[in-house]
Amino acid sequence: MSSPVPTAPGALPGLGHALPLLRDPLRFLRGLAGSGPLVRVRIGPLPVLLVCEPALIRQLLLDDRTFDKVGPIAERSKDLVGEGLAGCPHQLHRRQRRLCQPSFHPHRLPDYAAQFGASAERTASSWRDGQLLDVPAELLTMTMRSTLTAIFATTLPEATGRQLLADLAVLLDGSFRQILTPPPLDRLPIPANRRYRLATERFERTLGELAVRRRAEPNGGGDLLSSLIDALDPDSGTAERALSDAEVTDQLRTFFVAGTETTAATLGWTLHLLARHSEVQRRLRAELARVLGGAAPTLADLPALPLTRHTVTEALRLYPPAWMLTRDTTGPAELGGHRVPAGHTVAWSPYLLHHRADLYPDPERFDPDRWRDTKPDRTAYLPFGSGPRKCIGEQFALAQAALSLAVIAGRWQVEPAAAVRPAARSTLTPRGLRLRVRAVTGRQ
Ligand code: HEM
Repeated sequence: MSSPVPTAPGALPGLGHALPLLRDPLRFLRGLAGSGPLVRVRIGPLPVLLVCEPALIRQLLLDDRTFDKVGPIAERSKDLVGEGLAGCPHQLHRRQRRLCQPSFHPHRLPDYAAQFGASAERTASSWRDGQLLDVPAELLTMTMRSTLTAIFATTLPEATGRQLLADLAVLLDGSFRQILTPPPLDRLPIPANRRYRLATERFERTLGELAVRRRAEPNGGGDLLSSLIDALDPDSGTAERALSDAEVTDQLRTFFVAGTETTAATLGWTLHLLARHSEVQRRLRAELARVLGGAAPTLADLPALPLTRHTVTEALRLYPPAWMLTRDTTGPAELGGHRVPAGHTVAWSPYLLHHRADLYPDPERFDPDRWRDTKPDRTAYLPFGSGPRKCIGEQFALAQAALSLAVIAGRWQVEPAAAVRPAARSTLTPRGLRLRVRAVTGRQ
């Protein structure tokens, strides 16, 4: 019989571990990195089983029938992304995944990548020498814009695009609070709730109208929206288009919500780390100058830019934007010799996993060179998750992060200007990150 699962230290009556989790979740998680394979945590009244060991995390992620996206947290996120790919239960998932896969096929990546490069150029060329940047805001605008263009190509009226991005910013900002606010408090007519509702509803409505309009066009563009609309279900045996308008809308909402803040955070953390490690920054600039010679980077250049890629890999290890993920058991389950009852919330943290000293020597050290001769391990390095629910946008995000970094670091040297406060909300973001930019000599 295995020994009982320990409870994480610091629980308070009634609150459980809510306070340390709200105040400084990363410290709380680092404190658990040396614990056993399983730890009990309580968030207020909700008991959560935190899975810490790579082999058990793998078991959890591979068995998406037993450990499913159901339960209170999954329910609350439906407001935001409907029944889209990221939030739907197992029963709806396989079909949706098959239908969304063509939109992320590697042959589409060069077209998307051209948008990523152009959007990064537009952002980086708007900065001035010596400017103090509000990094999270700049990068979020940049990733939202390039996702918008990858989805709609250039078919969107300027004003519609602006409205979509403004609404998306409001809903990303309010989503964590809304998911944690129990109904009916989330419906109280206070300004924050009203603003959030208005933005969420208008965002959904606008995307829905755009999907309907595009379906009526005989020849859509070669963008992500067209590939979703044209997707055929190989199992249906007919040439019927498989995703309804409402389903296309939910997927679009999902891609915007799952893909913009996460990629912006990845880049924000990357710039933060480079600003504090000037030697790595100098080597990165040298690599970019040697390989690109001042030209705009393309997807085809990435294999020749190892330090650029490894810097992103290492930033995703130290600060995985999806820092804590949950599932709920659909029936009695077993993990590491312990019984887990049906309807129990089970969590795992890429952050905790990536900071384990037994997996990463000197885990707190920023060292892109640790990836020079080692490929990311399929059980120890999981910024994009694993198993059937693994991130569908992984290559999309990595290309966007690496190309944007190549554009920015080729033009600008970044210097620290203020202390950063990691904000672990839906996404782990570098809140308050301010960096001063200096023009790279010979570029201006
Ligand atoms: C650096 C950026 C990103 C990170 C760190 C990230 C991380 C993740 C993780 C960890 C998961 C698994 C969630 C779970 O197991 O519960 C996931 C799923 C997902 N991601 Fe990403 N993601 C990123 C970018 C993107 C982009 C750019 C898109 C789309 C444009 C995207 C769309 C999705 C979708 C649709 C799912 C659900 C997949 C499924 O359930 O089949 N993500 N992401």
